[in-house]
Amino acid sequence: MEIHTNIPLKNFTTMKLGGNARFMTEVRTPEEVAATYRNAKAQSLPVFILGGGSNVIAKDEGFAGIVIRMRIPGFEVIADDLNSTTIRVGAGEEWDSVVKRTVDMRLSGIEAMSAIPGTAGAAPVQNIGAYGQEIADTLESLVAYDTEQDNFVTLLNETCEFSYRQSIFRSSQIGRYIIVSITLKLSKNLPQPPFYEALQAYFEQHDVHIFTQEIIRNAVIDIRTNKLPDPKLLPNTGSFFKNAIVEDWQLTDLKASYPDIPTYDMGDGRYKVPTGWLIEQAGLKGKVLHGMKVHDKNALVLINQSATGYHDLANARDEIINAVRDKFKIQIEQEPLEI
Ligand code: EPU
Repeated sequence: MEIHTNIPLKNFTTMKLGGNARFMTEVRTPEEVAATYRNAKAQSLPVFILGGGSNVIAKDEGFAGIVIRMRIPGFEVIADDLNSTTIRVGAGEEWDSVVKRTVDMRLSGIEAMSAIPGTAGAAPVQNIGAYGQEIADTLESLVAYDTEQDNFVTLLNETCEFSYRQSIFRSSQIGRYIIVSITLKLSKNLPQPPFYEALQAYFEQHDVHIFTQEIIRNAVIDIRTNKLPDPKLLPNTGSFFKNAIVEDWQLTDLKASYPDIPTYDMGDGRYKVPTGWLIEQAGLKGKVLHGMKVHDKNALVLINQSATGYHDLANARDEIINAVRDKFKIQIEQEPLEI
């Protein structure tokens, strides 16, 4: 295992910002994860696990510890019956190549999460989701290195406490577990309509009436290509904010002033309000703040156009948060994690 020194984090995060990591290394087996962690702990060095860097923002001061780049490979079928196939995937696999392989196997469950950047191991951390699916729906369990107990543990779905873009890995147990593989149980059934609104509209517009996993995947790729900037060309981290969640009484107030406000019923007395809509209504869509552009096709996305560092992003973020709070009395939250 090679250890590199003073590595610019901007080269390893899709927002292309931030200072240096004091040390960086790559791991390709679970044993390498444990060995690297023990070594870092012995030297009192903080550890940060990096996947594709597509949901991580690096600060200007950099990271005074060791960044471990997760590269563990693997894709294997571990169970198969009449209705489902269960696969185990290494944390370092590229998420979208996993989706493609399952679609090629005619399995359902993650096809709507096509073209999401990042690695398989990062997917449960923020409970990735798109077009009506989230990884919490198919994740059976995962294996992680428990840095507190110094052993490998299998965590079942319910232990991960998944909710909208949330899990124990970025809340109560942040920093404790290093995910090394994930196990997904996928269905052999064809995808069944009705689909998520944007997908349904796409199928109607394109006169599509037969639905396979591949048709869903291609539709999602087409929709995403039109709405989301390619991080390889325009530095961004996908949705920069979470969608807002409001209580029913708040929604009643909002509807009185904004009868057209789009909402999504969460079924528990709460409603999701698209933050992209809130930012657009606040007049910021397409605007450039401190070198950060509010994407003109989806105001939820910030593009690093000419920011000189994390401080520019933080200033732009705070101005957007304040503008939304002033107009709607809703406190929106950043979605990507920070190193
Ligand atoms: N909208 C606006 N203006 C905007 C953006 C959106 O009015 O600038 C409205 C749309 O018209 C629509 C609603 O907001 O009524 C929702 O928009 P959309 O379906 O495009 O989804 P989103 O809320 O912007 C979420 C996820 C995406 C995911 C899509 C599709 C979050 C934070 N984002 O975005 O995930 O791909 O739904 O399911 O939940 C990501 O997390 O990085 C990500 C891209």
